Amino acid sequence: MDFTTKFNTWASRVEAGFAVHLPPAGTRPGRLHEAMHYSLKAGGKRLRPVLVFAAAELCDPFGRHDPLPAAVSIECIHTYSLIHDDLPCMDNDDLRRGRPTAHKAYDEATALLSGDALLTHAFYLLSTAYGYDSSLAAALVRTLSQAAGSERLIGGQMEDLIAEKRESVDADDLQYIHLNKTAAMIEASLALGAQVGEASPARMDRIREAGRELGLAFQIVDDVLDATADTATIGKTAGKDAKAGKATYVSLYGLERARVLARETSEAAVERWKKVEGDTAFLVALTRFLTDRKR
Ligand code: IPE
Ligand code: IPE
Ligand code: MG
Ligand code: MG
Ligand code: MG
Repeated sequence: MDFTTKFNTWASRVEAGFAVHLPPAGTRPGRLHEAMHYSLKAGGKRLRPVLVFAAAELCDPFGRHDPLPAAVSIECIHTYSLIHDDLPCMDNDDLRRGRPTAHKAYDEATALLSGDALLTHAFYLLSTAYGYDSSLAAALVRTLSQAAGSERLIGGQMEDLIAEKRESVDADDLQYIHLNKTAAMIEASLALGAQVGEASPARMDRIREAGRELGLAFQIVDDVLDATADTATIGKTAGKDAKAGKATYVSLYGLERARVLARETSEAAVERWKKVEGDTAFLVALTRFLTDRKR
């Protein structure tokens, strides 16, 4: 299977998984469950679930455990983080995944609660779907809750907002923000897949190192796209980072240097993939694809 077919197959699998692994949109309260499905189904790239599948296949080609619930759970957390990221008290965005943001399509309280519900559901899903193997379930919950917590995703989001108000932000601060608000969840996607695939601790460490570089490269490209792409292509309002005074690779290093750093960081990830045992061709192709992406 070529790269694109494989990516699309996994992306479709997770999209079909929303119907199986979440309460249906009609569940009471209808407004809440509808809003959860609205944001989930708006059509993101599905990068994180694809990483779960790819890491699981890399570590266990025979597929002893089904990666799908883990893939759905990380997309739930990612989507919650986008809903909250777009709220007026955070980045105040009107457009997400080419559609009105949750608080525009519904209202702020519904957006807030649908994010809370997606966050909570992710852990319910992991603990029930893998409940037949309690040590696997506990390991998955630990990985995801750590990555989504106050020292990683939420910590990165906090410093991202604090940095807007600060006079100067240095390279260390910027790295902290990007490694946590974004790379944590990308690394965690791979780690969940590796746990589902029963990876050895040494292989897990190498996979996480590659994920960290990949996640950093991913956010640098996101910063470049915010400064260069048009709103219709990225499906979210372009040019917002500069207006909000965000700390980004573009604001700190300038556009040209940010582009170079994106490429260098991405190639550093490729080098890390080459150190991981097994067939990492898909993950290498994915890393390069993400550097050249248009959205
Ligand atoms: C957006 O992530 C938030 C960042 C961490 C940059 P994605 O670019 O993966 O968003 P979707 O899931 O495709 O909408
Ligand atoms: C990543 O940062 C946001 C999350 C961790 C959810 P951004 O604020 O740059 O993401 P976009 O550009 O709004 O997607
Ligand atoms: Mg943000
Ligand atoms: Mg934002
Ligand atoms: Mg951005």
